Amino acid sequence: MSQEQNVSAVGGKSFTAVAINCAAKAGEWIKTKLGNHTSLALKYSSKDLVTEVDKGAEKMIRSLVLTHFPHHSFLGEEGVEPGPEASARALQSVRDAEYLWIVDPVDGTTNFVHGFPFFSVSIALAHKGEVIVGVVYDPMRDELFVAEKGKGAYVHGKRSQVSEETTLGESLIATGFPPDQQFALPLNMKGLQALVPQVRNIRAGGSAALHMAYVAAGRLSGFWEWGLNAWDLAAGSLLVSESGGRVSDIKGNPYDLGVRHVAATNGHIHDELISVLQKDNAAG
Ligand code: IPD
Ligand code: CA
Ligand code: CA
Repeated sequence: MSQEQNVSAVGGKSFTAVAINCAAKAGEWIKTKLGNHTSLALKYSSKDLVTEVDKGAEKMIRSLVLTHFPHHSFLGEEGVEPGPEASARALQSVRDAEYLWIVDPVDGTTNFVHGFPFFSVSIALAHKGEVIVGVVYDPMRDELFVAEKGKGAYVHGKRSQVSEETTLGESLIATGFPPDQQFALPLNMKGLQALVPQVRNIRAGGSAALHMAYVAAGRLSGFWEWGLNAWDLAAGSLLVSESGGRVSDIKGNPYDLGVRHVAATNGHIHDELISVLQKDNAAG
């Protein structure tokens, strides 16, 4: 077995196939629950929601992953105490694992709760801290975004490629409004104020992972948001980089699993985006 095969499969089971299978199964189930969830609770703030569907989907993914790869580590949003400090601690405790699955079972819970059809399942596998597989699945459109380190990214089997805009003026950018009202939201609002006059337009669809997948697929020129977690970003980061784009923190340092304040673009507009976000302290 070559070194490359060694990293992408153990005992003949493809990591990517397992990730796709998990995302598809969870996504199908989540879709059947749209409009039918029975419990709604608050987590970190009144804007941070969780339902039994988030928990059930994570349980399903976790048990499928660990059935195939019982010795792998697993970091899922619903297995972690709410809030930025607890999230950072949870990542710290597993980030050096040989194989680490990083899962957001429903990215876009607020949309799911309101019946706004824009949410996704996000599944990444990191090998010694580096993301090697990234899958984002949109069950409402049945769109599957898949990336493998060094092998490119695909949307439903078609090679995905970032867009070609070279200036902010011709760019469509996305962001989100983080539930952390104290720190992340005010910084995001500053960035919004600085960017709105400079870009073609801004969208805030409500699923960071799907926004990243859209940057990868060339549907958005870029995305930034303060206060995200590894499970929001890991799969999307590989989709963007394998589609020819660039992912960094908001200061421009290369992406790693610990990045919480992210900028992901087609590459051409990256420096311009970062420099606008940095003006007026928007980049901290
Ligand atoms: C949220 C979504 C949203 C972003 C929030 C995230 P969740 O994730 O990605 O787009 O703006 O910051 O918390 O809670 O729906 O998994
Ligand atoms: Ca999320
Ligand atoms: Ca979630």
